[in-house]
Amino acid sequence: MVVVDWEAVDMLCSLEFWRMAVCWTLSLLYSHLYLLLAPRLSALFPSLLGPTPPRFPRRRFAPGPSSPIQRPLCVVTGASSGLGAAAARALAAEGYHVILAGRNPQTLIKTIQEIKKHDQNACVEAFQVDISSIHSIMKFESSIKQWLEESNLHPSIQLLINNAGILAKSCRVTADGFDQMMETNYLGAFFLTNIMLPLLKNSPVPSRIVNVTSFTHRSVSHVDINMGNLARENLHCLSTLGKYQFAQTYEYTKFCTLLFSYELHRQHYVMDPASKVSIMAADPGAVATNIMRELPPSLKRLAFLVLGFLQLLQSPEIGVDSIIDAALAPPEASGRYFFGAKDATEAKYACGDGSTATQWRECKSYLFWSKDQPELLLLS
Ligand SMILES: NC(=O)c1ccc[n+]([C@@H]2O[C@H](COP(=O)([O-])OP(=O)(O)OC[C@H]3O[C@@H](n4cnc5c(N)ncnc54)[C@H](OP(=O)(O)O)[C@@H]3O)[C@@H](O)[C@H]2O)c1
Repeated sequence: MVVVDWEAVDMLCSLEFWRMAVCWTLSLLYSHLYLLLAPRLSALFPSLLGPTPPRFPRRRFAPGPSSPIQRPLCVVTGASSGLGAAAARALAAEGYHVILAGRNPQTLIKTIQEIKKHDQNACVEAFQVDISSIHSIMKFESSIKQWLEESNLHPSIQLLINNAGILAKSCRVTADGFDQMMETNYLGAFFLTNIMLPLLKNSPVPSRIVNVTSFTHRSVSHVDINMGNLARENLHCLSTLGKYQFAQTYEYTKFCTLLFSYELHRQHYVMDPASKVSIMAADPGAVATNIMRELPPSLKRLAFLVLGFLQLLQSPEIGVDSIIDAALAPPEASGRYFFGAKDATEAKYACGDGSTATQWRECKSYLFWSKDQPELLLLS
C-alpha cells in the first residue's frame, strides 16, 4: 500500500519550499562560484576588480611561558550536534579548553563522551543554556563566572562561537515575546555576546567572536530593521495567508547575524584601537546536519540527495572548516566573511554604514528595555 506523506505534499505546494529550493541553491552556487573565480578574475583584471583577496592561514595559539593564559577558553553554543559538536571537537584538538553550551544536558554529555573517546586529553566542559531565553543566558553567564573563580582560572574567555540555530517550520513565540527562530538564531546570540563582552575584553591575549551565518542571507530582498520589526508580530510570523514564512524568517535571522558581525567589528575593532577583540562571520555552506529536523523526512532526504548530486553537500567535519578558519585566523582578518574550506575566504569588508549602526542601537535598546526585568536596564 502506498502511504502519501501529506505533510510533505503540503510543503511541496508552498512558496516557502520553492524559495528554499531555488533561491537558497542559487545563493549557495553564487558563494561557491565567487570563491572559485574571485581570486582568478582579480589576478586577471586587478585594475577593474581590485587586488586578489588575501588568505588568512590558521594560527595555533602559542602561549609565552609567563602568559596567564596557557590554554585558551572557548564557548561554543549549540555544541550538542552538527557543526557545533564538530567545532568543539576541532578546537579541543587545537588545544582549547572548550565549553559546550546547549539546552539539553544529555546530548551535551553524549557529545563530550564522543570527543573524549577520540581524544582522552581533550579539555571540555558542558554548560546548559537556552539561547532563546534572556533569563537562561544571564544564568549561563553567572555560572561561567562562578566556575572560572572556583577553578582558579583567569576571569576571561578567549573565543565565543555563536553557532546555535534552528530552522523552525512553525511560528512559536518565546517567553521573551519573540519569534523563536529570530531569538535563537540572532537575538539570543546578540544578547549573549553583549553579556560576554566584558569577559572577552578582560582577556590578556587577543580574543575573538565568530558568528555563524549562512549563504541564505543572500536571498533577503527587503531590509528594514528597526525595533518594531524585531517584534514577533512583524517578523513574518503570521502572514496574511496564515502560513509561517519560515524560509524568509531564517534568511532574515542570518542576514541580521551578518550585519551584527560587521557592526561588532566596527565598534570593537575599527573604532577602538585599544581593543583586542576581533570579530568574524563564518558560513559553512550546505552541511548534512540536523538543521532540517522539522521538515518532513522525505523532503530532507530529497534536499540532501539534490545537494549531494550537485556536489554541494558537506559533512560536518568538512563544513566546520570555515568556522575553525575564522576562529584561528590572525586578528587582522576581523570583519571578514569566511566561506569554504581551509583558509579560503570570501573577501568582504565590514560595511560600516548607517544601517548596521541603527540596527545595533535598536536591538540593544529593545533587549535592554524591559519593565518586567528591570535588572536588564543595568546593562544598557
Ligand atoms: N547545516 C547547514 O547546512 C548550515 C548552513 C549554514 C549555516 N548553518 C548554521 O550552522 C549553525 C549550526 O547548525 P547545524 O547545521 O549544526 O544544525 P543542528 O545539527 O541542528 O545543530 C544546531 C544546534 O543548535 C542547538 N540549539 C537550537 N536551539 C537552541 C537553543 N534555544 N538553545 C541552545 N542551543 C540550541 C541545537 O541543540 P539541540 O540539539 O538541543 O536542539 C544544536 O546543538 C546554525 O546557526 C545554522 O543556521 C547551517
